[in-house]
Amino acid sequence: EQRPIIVQGPMPIEAEKFAEKLSDMEIEESGNFIFYKGTIDDYPVIVTKTSKGMENTAAATALAIEKYDPIAIINQGTSGGHDPDLHVFDIVLGKKTVNIGSIKTESAEENEGMDPSLWKPMDLMASEGSAGEDPDAEKIRYYEGDKELLAAANAVKDQYDQGKVVEGTIGSADLWNNEVDRINWFHEKYGTSVEEMEGAAAAQISDSYGVPFLGIRILSNNKTNDGQYNPDTAAANQEYVHHVLKEYISNL
Ligand code: 5AD
Repeated sequence: EQRPIIVQGPMPIEAEKFAEKLSDMEIEESGNFIFYKGTIDDYPVIVTKTSKGMENTAAATALAIEKYDPIAIINQGTSGGHDPDLHVFDIVLGKKTVNIGSIKTESAEENEGMDPSLWKPMDLMASEGSAGEDPDAEKIRYYEGDKELLAAANAVKDQYDQGKVVEGTIGSADLWNNEVDRINWFHEKYGTSVEEMEGAAAAQISDSYGVPFLGIRILSNNKTNDGQYNPDTAAANQEYVHHVLKEYISNL
């Protein structure tokens, strides 16, 4: 029995275009999740509409791993640019993925105010102890994109002509940042290329089960260079990820 590849998309516009590409497609629903099960080039592929956000994505990832024993997981969809050199329709391959919502604040007493620029990264996977007290938890945890998935994605870069395809760092949190100073803070401190709301949740769960993972995110907006939101990017990314999958499958 061949182990399927999972392709996740948060919103209907980020999953349905890909689901249409599957042959012999069947739908399985569970909670908020829709699993579109089918094949590409005779290889089993399961597209998942996870819904938005870290919680939905973590649950959809764990459920898919337990139910389907996937050989690899790709989390894909739209994102907001943190890098002024990236424009709407450019695509970022997640060489690294990082949770940018896991944060410990500085210590301050009543009426001393609050200052997000002093907040520190918090690594919830650093130990089994209290993250608030553990100095080892004051660091950024990056999840590495799988080498074979990255190689497949790089191999089909030229088949995408609506923008550039680059390797970078995907930052995730249940958060939409519109303050450019804060976006620049993440870009400098975490090295983020883009932000979205799912990748790091899927990466963390995939990692805990040892399943190869890659995030692939198209910019639908970029506040740092006035890149206006364009929802057509969601379909463009699925077209590109379809090429990636065909390449990956041809090497299995
Ligand atoms: N910030 C956060 N999430 C974004 N998304 C697109 N652009 C951004 C952005 N600037 C994605 C998220 C989520 C939905 C709102 O779109 O991943 O699923």
